[in-house]
Amino acid sequence: MVDNLIWLRGQLVRQSTAFVNLLSPTAQFGLNVFEGIRCYWNEENGELYAFRLKDHLNRLMLSSRLLRLPSPYIPKQLESFMKDVVQANDFQTDIAVRMTLFGDGQGTWHTCESVSLFIAPMAKQRTNLDKLPALKACISSWERINDNSLPPRAKVGANYINGRYAHLQARYDGYDLPVFLGQDGKVAEGAGACLFMLRNGQLVTPPVNSSVLESITRNTIIVLAKDAGMTVVERSIDRTELYLSDEVFLCGSAAEISPIVSVDGYELGNGQPGNTTISLLKSYLAITSGENPAYSEWRTVVHRRT
Ligand SMILES: Cc1ncc(COP(=O)(O)O)c(C=O)c1O
Repeated sequence: MVDNLIWLRGQLVRQSTAFVNLLSPTAQFGLNVFEGIRCYWNEENGELYAFRLKDHLNRLMLSSRLLRLPSPYIPKQLESFMKDVVQANDFQTDIAVRMTLFGDGQGTWHTCESVSLFIAPMAKQRTNLDKLPALKACISSWERINDNSLPPRAKVGANYINGRYAHLQARYDGYDLPVFLGQDGKVAEGAGACLFMLRNGQLVTPPVNSSVLESITRNTIIVLAKDAGMTVVERSIDRTELYLSDEVFLCGSAAEISPIVSVDGYELGNGQPGNTTISLLKSYLAITSGENPAYSEWRTVVHRRT
């Protein structure tokens, strides 16, 4: 087992020796807020770049505020702890960093105390452009959680149980992944990623008040696509529009840009990852890794080769 150093309650410890109480609210009820932050290694520069770190830290604060799970730390401290743990592991490869504020100790689900932090970096390669995924999606019969039940705007551990129901049902039914509809019957997002479709030459994505996480990658794609001269529209999407679209992809820090080639068996385009999807993915990876020096404000150096 890979046994990286992780940051837990102010100390760097091996993952295999990092424990929480079995009766803690995080273990019992998923009482935690977290971020998944990708860092991209640039071999030529000998630098590791966290992508849109400040936006991730701000969203962690937003989630913590909404859930009334107060953070003992401010973003500046979190950034410094993250650099400490990444450098202690001397990662010279692409990584993903899980940063989690969690209900520690032995309280119950409504406790607002004993909030602890862990930061766990792990190796994770970027999407291989020579081996693109070609995903078959279905519209889930499970409905996306909504702002008046379990707000998707907050990135809370317990939210992912909604994704679990849909994901496992999709796999059981022979698909790769689900696409959720919201309470209004319109397209929301995937189980752990936002969604875009290309239809009539326009890139369309559901608005941020349509039961989706306020995704940082979604925002990145809107900026990149507009800067490349594309028309980007934020509006609600019918399920049948997905069936008739030319391209659909999911996006997220983990998913990056993942091409979907069919929805409920309706083949999109020629049944292969579409050209717009591939070109956005190429430009996304060039920017995250600093191969394209533009958008430098989105990259934070978290480690350097010595
Ligand atoms: C439910 C959900 N939607 C969307 C996303 C994409 O968000 P981001 O681009 O900020 O990683 C994620 C991934 O974190 C997610 O879990």
